[in-house]
Amino acid sequence: MTLRTAAPEDAALLADIHASAFPAHEAWDAKTMATLLGMPGALGLVAGEAGMVLLRLAADEAEVLTFAVRPEARRTGLGRALLETGMMLLAAQGATSLLLEVAEENTAAIALYTAAGFTRAATRRDYYGAGRHALLLRADLGA
Ligand SMILES: CC(C)(COP(=O)(O)OP(=O)(O)OC[C@H]1O[C@@H](n2cnc3c(N)ncnc32)[C@H](O)[C@@H]1OP(=O)(O)O)[C@@H](O)C(=O)NCCC(=O)NCCS
Repeated sequence: MTLRTAAPEDAALLADIHASAFPAHEAWDAKTMATLLGMPGALGLVAGEAGMVLLRLAADEAEVLTFAVRPEARRTGLGRALLETGMMLLAAQGATSLLLEVAEENTAAIALYTAAGFTRAATRRDYYGAGRHALLLRADLGA
């Protein structure tokens, strides 16, 4: 499947993929996606209509804002391709590290991130609400 950079017109597609992958109360609508895509340093990638990652670079540090693959398209390597392509593009733009938060019970994402070279930098207690902790993960892009 072809990966491409997301354009402002892709805001609705990003929101649709996001809604398929996260609970309704965590959904980010098209307006939010358009705002995020328009931020300085923002980089969105889409894989067909099945997956997306939204990244942001500030100075030499980058972060994953959101990342999702539709349930029916999972375990086919799309998530890995999106993440690794994003890491490559960020490194080419001068990023030396990539940070993200992930729910500590999100074993699928944590397995993917670990395989891509992320390690735990910290735990953010109650990040997603009472008793729902996040791991702050970091990957070195300078290697
Ligand atoms: C996390 C997510 C993006 C992964 O997308 P994906 O396209 O299924 O990932 P891939 O097929 O590229 O998987 C790559 C590797 O990650 C690991 N992995 C992915 N899903 C896994 C699962 N359910 N259980 C265990 N390992 C998993 C495996 O090591 C896998 O390699 P393998 O299939 O060769 O074993 C997807 O599960 C998703 O959208 N989840 C809901 C949203 C979310 O949690 N986003 C991240 C928030 S921080």
